[in-house]
Amino acid sequence: MNDFELDVINGLSHSPRFLPCKYLYDERGSDLFEQICETKDYYVTRADLELHETQLPKISQLIGPNAHIIEFGSGAGTKTQQLLASLTTPRAYTPIEISPTALALSVEALQASFPALDIIPLEADYTQDIDPDDLSLDPPASRRVVYFPGSTIGNFTREEALGFLQRMAKIAQKNGAVLVGVDLVKPVDQLLRAYDDDEGITAQFNKNLLARLKEELGAELDLDAFEHEARFNPVLNRIEMHLVAKTPTTIVVANQRFDFAVGETIHTESSHKYTIEDFQNLAAQAGLKAEQVWLDGEARFSMHYLVPKP
Ligand code: AVJ
Repeated sequence: MNDFELDVINGLSHSPRFLPCKYLYDERGSDLFEQICETKDYYVTRADLELHETQLPKISQLIGPNAHIIEFGSGAGTKTQQLLASLTTPRAYTPIEISPTALALSVEALQASFPALDIIPLEADYTQDIDPDDLSLDPPASRRVVYFPGSTIGNFTREEALGFLQRMAKIAQKNGAVLVGVDLVKPVDQLLRAYDDDEGITAQFNKNLLARLKEELGAELDLDAFEHEARFNPVLNRIEMHLVAKTPTTIVVANQRFDFAVGETIHTESSHKYTIEDFQNLAAQAGLKAEQVWLDGEARFSMHYLVPKP
């Protein structure tokens, strides 16, 4: 059994049923996510981009010259380009990414845009511990800035996000900083629309996971028996994506049978929302002091500059 199959059996056996959200992002899923970012209902990416466009001069001033930018993720996007372009003589840029292909592609693209920049990729899983020494430079940078844009931190539970911030703090080291994008709490109807857009792209994105079970694991299942649903969980302050059984239905995978009653769901992704204060408190628990926070013009999205507490 491969990892995907094991994770599927494990998640479907669990009560309530779930599937790890990383499996949403295969090639088709990543393409659908890009399309979600273009919908009128999904405000997150637009707010994040607007924040980058308007606040980067101030952010780069705080970072200062000769910094080593370390990104959690492959940094293929516009935001990384904008950040690097705004900096004064950056010392180096390191994308950390588990997929060697994604890593190579982003390095190639960025090197073309920034021919003089020292790009030092690190092939690693950023959800695991990374040895700060693996990021040493000679001569050293003025400081390390661990960059994690896009509110990907929202996919994690509060406890997981705390562990994440601790690991980022460790990499940043004494003189460094953590620069992290966080989506903010807002009226529930606006959130629900963002995760169940009018054009139905998010629904396709969510249902792609079931298509993968069929195609890659040979699962027997009725795609039409399930419906995409976005729910707001007010206790955990998060949007949850679910696949809800509209009729009694069965999924058979790896010779195991999973029966669904009407209304029974598979939880596929969470997107946690924070207030600024709430996130700063979480950062403080990770030993990070909130030095600065920037917002987009409509206060939908935030970017936090956190520094290790002495
Ligand atoms: C990529 C995690 C930032 O949670 O807003 C968007 C993923 N899922 N619509 C988010 C997502 C459905 C997105 N992140």
